[in-house]
Amino acid sequence: MEQYIIKGGVPLHGEVEIGGAKNAALGILAAAIMTDDEVLIENLPDVRDVNVMLEAMSQIGVKVERLTPHSVMLCGANIGDVNIEYEYIKKIRASYYLLGALLGKYKKAEVPLPGGCNIGSRPIDLHLKGFKALGAKVSIRNGSICAHAEHLKGCHLFLDTVSVGATINIMMAAAMAEGRTVIENCAKEPHVVDVANFLNSMGANIKGAGTDVIRIVGVEKLHMTEYSIIPDQIEAGTFMFAAACTGGDVLVKNVIPKHLEATISKLLEIGCRVEEFDTEVRVIAPKRLSCANVKTLPYPGYPTDMQPQIGVALSMAEGTSIVTESIFENRFKYLDELARMGATSKVEGNTAIITGTDKLTGARISAPDLRAGAALVIAGLSAEGVTTIDDIVYIQRGYECFDEKLRGLGAKIECISSQREARKFMLMTG
Ligand code: UD1
Repeated sequence: MEQYIIKGGVPLHGEVEIGGAKNAALGILAAAIMTDDEVLIENLPDVRDVNVMLEAMSQIGVKVERLTPHSVMLCGANIGDVNIEYEYIKKIRASYYLLGALLGKYKKAEVPLPGGCNIGSRPIDLHLKGFKALGAKVSIRNGSICAHAEHLKGCHLFLDTVSVGATINIMMAAAMAEGRTVIENCAKEPHVVDVANFLNSMGANIKGAGTDVIRIVGVEKLHMTEYSIIPDQIEAGTFMFAAACTGGDVLVKNVIPKHLEATISKLLEIGCRVEEFDTEVRVIAPKRLSCANVKTLPYPGYPTDMQPQIGVALSMAEGTSIVTESIFENRFKYLDELARMGATSKVEGNTAIITGTDKLTGARISAPDLRAGAALVIAGLSAEGVTTIDDIVYIQRGYECFDEKLRGLGAKIECISSQREARKFMLMTG
């Protein structure tokens, strides 16, 4: 089992390049099978979730040609099967995007029900409500969602909860339905816009992505395209908090600063200096971070995927902070791990009260999930002494070359798989 070993206390300095957005990539890969033509996708992040998605796609007959680690040519002309295997959905929930894509294109799909996830219960009732409103018959059989329709017909739909997944899934199916669909109370996340732009580049007619209301006029056929995925706002935000927590000064390159507004606003509030350029953001940490209150909200609010990172910052800040998690109920597990490093917090329902400590100290801890794992790496980088982190497979789901990029900023971090490597690291780092 691989672990990260970290010798903390080094302020991060220098420049880091951000990759393509994982969450946009997952939607775009699924949408790419909706044409029989070849589709070229660039700025693809080379992370585990993306690679599993590509495997799931090739299992149903999609031609997947990885041209470079960051570009892939796909062709969905010879899809022989509309059933996705449980093995893939178990590894990566977002393979449920294939439901919307297959239903739109072939008017039928079968995808296993995604299981529970460790950040909270994640229902998909809204996805199904949308498919039904488009005229599909949806049933659950032997643990799978089976959706089929003679014809998909455009509809007017209100989503009860703002959901990224439901917005993207319904938008894909509606892109190839007959007539006009209006989806209200949509998610406005940058990756919803990116999937819409991608579909439009294949000939879809989608307007309003990025606002509350998306209007779609269905088309019969989609065509070839070449498309480059937007930069990953969460990877960028994670490096920005790594700079803030370690007392560093980091230029984060290849970003869209507009997508980072909520993160930047909180970094300013906790005392950082932030300089914005066209495609870069520089974060300069203060001597000591200040406390702040934060509540996660759908975009453009503060992202739930950035909650553990700010939680780590606040655990070292001066004063007491209140963090409210309003999207997923089970996203405070990292605080138990942080407590082992000397942090003080109390969780009540969806609120955590965090009292900052002067200094975290290294400990052996585990990554509870993807973003919490990345946040704990930041804690290790900021702490005095050595931290080892187990279960880093979660982190590798969404961060490409995380340890390598951090080393590029001066961090003392290695990915190890034996005690011998741990001893070697200790000798090297003193
Ligand atoms: C996506 C992101 C994830 C991020 C989340 C919120 C991907 C692959 N994942 O997840 O990283 O944390 O957005 O920004 O893009 N809900 C329902 N019924 C549904 C669907 C959702 O009640 O049918 C609820 C969820 O329980 C949650 C809220 O809606 O409380 C938002 O979830 P949603 O936006 O759907 O998250 P995901 O698309 O799963």
